[in-house]
Amino acid sequence: MKVSGASKNLGCKVMAASLLVPGTTVIRNMPRVDDLEVMIELLRAIGARVDSIGDDCLAIDAGGDLTPDAPYELVSRMRASFNVLGPLLGRCGEARVAMPGGDSIGSRKIDMHLDGLRAMGARVETRHGYVMASTGGGLLGARHVLEFPSVGATENLLTAAVRSKGTTIIDNAAREPEITELCACLNRMGAHVVGGGTSTIAVDGVEELSPIDTELIGDRIETGTFLMACGIAGGEIELTGTRFEHVEMVVRKLGDMGMLVSPTPDGLWARAHKRLDAVDIATLPFPGFATDFMPMAVALLSVSRGTAIVTENVYDGRFQFVEELARMGADARNEGRHAVVRGVARLSGAPVRAADVRAGAALTIAGLAAEGETVVHDCEHVDRGYADLPAKLRALGAQIERLAG
Ligand code: EPU
Repeated sequence: MKVSGASKNLGCKVMAASLLVPGTTVIRNMPRVDDLEVMIELLRAIGARVDSIGDDCLAIDAGGDLTPDAPYELVSRMRASFNVLGPLLGRCGEARVAMPGGDSIGSRKIDMHLDGLRAMGARVETRHGYVMASTGGGLLGARHVLEFPSVGATENLLTAAVRSKGTTIIDNAAREPEITELCACLNRMGAHVVGGGTSTIAVDGVEELSPIDTELIGDRIETGTFLMACGIAGGEIELTGTRFEHVEMVVRKLGDMGMLVSPTPDGLWARAHKRLDAVDIATLPFPGFATDFMPMAVALLSVSRGTAIVTENVYDGRFQFVEELARMGADARNEGRHAVVRGVARLSGAPVRAADVRAGAALTIAGLAAEGETVVHDCEHVDRGYADLPAKLRALGAQIERLAG
């Protein structure tokens, strides 16, 4: 099974960064998940030209005049759209971007983004639901320590800094592979970024950037989803177009549970030949166990042998799906930042509702281990981040179909 390119959590960010470049940026291996469509609409509203080349390639021409305005109607549909703030400030010296707000997994504040931009000399205000930022003569390099290694704040500060005057140091930066890749893309555009993928990123401002033709890495969250689906359903799976080191902590946990997982030249191979043993899990920023894997891990633990405690350290509201899993017969309960999951031998298919993309994926793969039929309602959430998950699971042998409506 070939893992799709990381459209949602990397592709949208490279699209935002392309606003820094007066020319045509080409991004390949970028399947059309729904979040991408929102980003396309947003870039067009800002004044970029966006063309599709085939099924999974986009050309973004930000060579014309841009309107540095990201409206509520688009930003409220998708968190990643807030990533245009840094590039717009860097390119236009001003930006008006709607506040993204919280969502079904937690409060999702933006204070760290704004504090960092202020440290670089931007005037930043929030008024009437919008962030209004301006630089009055350009951003200035500064040293800034993030309170938490926020992925979005690291990305916004990084993309704002590449065209600033002087050197910006982002300390306690996020280290997710998507950040490393974004730094590599920026460098290929002509930026001077050092330390991407470490906790300290240094950016020397440059005057000009030029367009690139780039290809996205495989989606590590999709990779983990298939590994856990294999753990739930049993059997063997080979994943290509992805990287072992991006899912190392998931692999370690799956190994502790009794699954065999090993790297291959172009991805991973995995086998689950027996019911797996429960292990405790605590989510953390990369290279820890990513919060985006947690719902699928809970689905897997719900049919494992023994009891597990799962601790969510990144979001304050990501356990809503636990009640839906319980509708399928899972013995799982949530209190605050913890869930206690006692494995049962078998789940029973039931109608359930997806509240977000990963909850939807978790309920879908839980359905693989359930007796009878599981119907996942609101499954459009899954389409925000996965390129036709049902079709891929079907290709692996699952009996699954998309219902109309
Ligand atoms: N936070 C603040 N203040 C800020 C920024 C973040 O308090 O200014 C808090 C958030 O409220 C949250 C935590 O810090 O509790 C982590 O937020 P972070 O900024 O790291 O996350 P993000 O950039 O908003 C991205 C992914 C998420 C993924 C997280 C963590 C995208 C579009 N989203 O979000 O992906 O969970 O990083 O790795 O890249 C998903 O794919 O399902 C998903 C939610």
